[in-house]
Order: sequence, then C-alpha cells, then structure tokens
Amino acid sequence: MLESPTAHVPPLSLTDEAANPAAFAAALGGSFERFGFAVVSDHGVPADLIARAWAMTEAFFALPEETKRAYFAPGGGGARGYTPFKTEIAKGASHVDLKEFWHVGRQLAKGHRFEAQMAPNVWPDQPEGFRETFIELFAAFDTAGDRLLSAIARHLGLAPDWFDHAVRDGNSVLRLLHYPPIPADAPGVRAGAHEDINLITLLLGAEEAGLELLDKTGEWLAIKPPEGAMVVNVGDMLQRLTNHVLPSTTHRVVNPAPERRGHSRYSMPFFLHPAPDFLIETLPSTITAERPNRYPTPITAHDYLHERLVEIGLVKA
Ligand code: OGA
Ligand code: NI
Repeated sequence: MLESPTAHVPPLSLTDEAANPAAFAAALGGSFERFGFAVVSDHGVPADLIARAWAMTEAFFALPEETKRAYFAPGGGGARGYTPFKTEIAKGASHVDLKEFWHVGRQLAKGHRFEAQMAPNVWPDQPEGFRETFIELFAAFDTAGDRLLSAIARHLGLAPDWFDHAVRDGNSVLRLLHYPPIPADAPGVRAGAHEDINLITLLLGAEEAGLELLDKTGEWLAIKPPEGAMVVNVGDMLQRLTNHVLPSTTHRVVNPAPERRGHSRYSMPFFLHPAPDFLIETLPSTITAERPNRYPTPITAHDYLHERLVEIGLVKA
C-alpha cells in the first residue's frame, strides 16, 4: 500500500485546559470540526502507569492461544475479556480485522442500577498485577475524558459540567489491542475502515504507524502523534448528539511498510460511553434552518450501542 500523506492535526496540550479553558475549548472544537480528531499531549495519565500497562498487554497476548481463549465468552459480544484474532469485521468490509483484543469495563458495586446493562469484568490469572493496573488506568482515562468533555461542552456553548451527569458510571470500555506481525503479502488491513460508536475515544499507542483518517477531501491521511500523546476522536454518539457539528470520522489501521511487518502493533483505545440510560437527543443549539435535525427520534445509549454491535458482528440480533 502506498504511504498516505500526513494529517496536519494541530498538537494540543491538556495543560491549557486548566490554564486557559476558553482557548483550549476553541482549539479542541476546531480540530474536531476540521478532522473529527485531535492530538493531545500532557493528558495527565502517568507515564509509569502507561509503561506498566504496555508490559501487561504484551505479556498477556504472548500467552498461548488456549490460555487466552479461556477468557473468550462466545455470545458475550466481546464486551469483556478476550476476543480472538479474526473475529471482528468492520461494517460492510470483506476481510476480518487482523487483531485480537481484551476489554476492561467499569467496576460496578454489587446491586448497581446498571448491573443488567454493564457486564462484570473478567480478569486473567496472569500476568500478575493485570487487574490492579487496568483498574487504575481506567480511572486515569476517566479523568482525562472528563476534562476533554468539559472543553467540548464549552465549545458547544453548554455548561462545562454538562456531560458530568451523562457519563457518571458510564459504560466506557478500555480496549487492549494486539495486531500481530503479518506476512509480507497479507491482504486487507489491520483494522478496516470504521467509525467509533461512543462519545469520544482516547487512544494511546498510535506512534506505531498505521492509523489513518478519511479526510473531508476524500483522502486517507496518516495520523502521526508525538511520542506519548493521546489521539482523541469523535464517535457516532457525539456526532448524533451534535447533529454532525462534530463529525465522527472514518478511520482504519493499515498494514505497515514491509520492514515493520514482522513487528506487533499494540494500542489502547478508551471508548468513552455515556451511562446506558442517557438519552441521545439532538442538542437544540445544533439545529438550524441550514442544519435541520437529522435525528428527530432520540434513543438511549444502551439501545444505540446494541444496534451497532449487531452490525459489526460482535452481537447476534
Ligand atoms: C479502534 C481503533 C485504532 C488503533 O479500536 O476502534 O480505531 O490505532 N483503533 O488501534
Ligand atoms: Ni476506531
């Protein structure tokens, strides 16, 4: 595959969110409106925690296939635990994705009102410390996500705490992804063109090449974040809520240049979801004469997620 040109997504620093919230909100909103993506440094997730999480991720995926398969729950929609190589297929794609992954969800107290919609976590027996590491990382992503959402709210002219209620005890998922080495002549791509389902996605690990966005111009552009930066993108729920003011941009992970094909690629997206009972109802301020309401019928986050998981083959109708 020919190398795609680089997307000029402006680098942002989350430090500015505290120092100059209005300017940060405008910059983040501008980046989202142009690309559906933003590149954010100084996101507050501690570097040593991230390093531990990469080590755990590599150690887990290095386990024998049978060991990993013990954590696969067929029919569970891949919501928690392990999903083997070549299971997920992007909507409308002809090849399955060349990836295996692990999903961590929110730890809910027993008897929590969302227990029926949010499955309990599954934890592997090894590597040691996996559970503690990812509970801690989940919380750190939650904090970073809250700060980003408050900037998004400002950009949309809402109260900075507008999303607090929407995402409290939300159905977010932390995905540990492994794209194994591929043969020189592998067909297809590591992850087919798709849009994310959730509000926003916070991604670590995109320094290893492959992630591309489909630009408004119709061109595929490579995303090349600086070391340690987070790639943040708008998902379909936020696009729907904002009547497409903030676009959920199609993206994919292409197979790398031949000299990198012998290497694994690891990444960690945090799919930030609202609470299951949050009603996705078009924000009135995003409806105008030129931009009529595309979604006159609201839908709960839970029902919307279910519809989408059926489409990508993770849940049976
Ligand atoms: C995803 C995704 C990108 C990556 O899992 O939805 O787009 O770089 N991942 O792995
Ligand atoms: Ni994605």
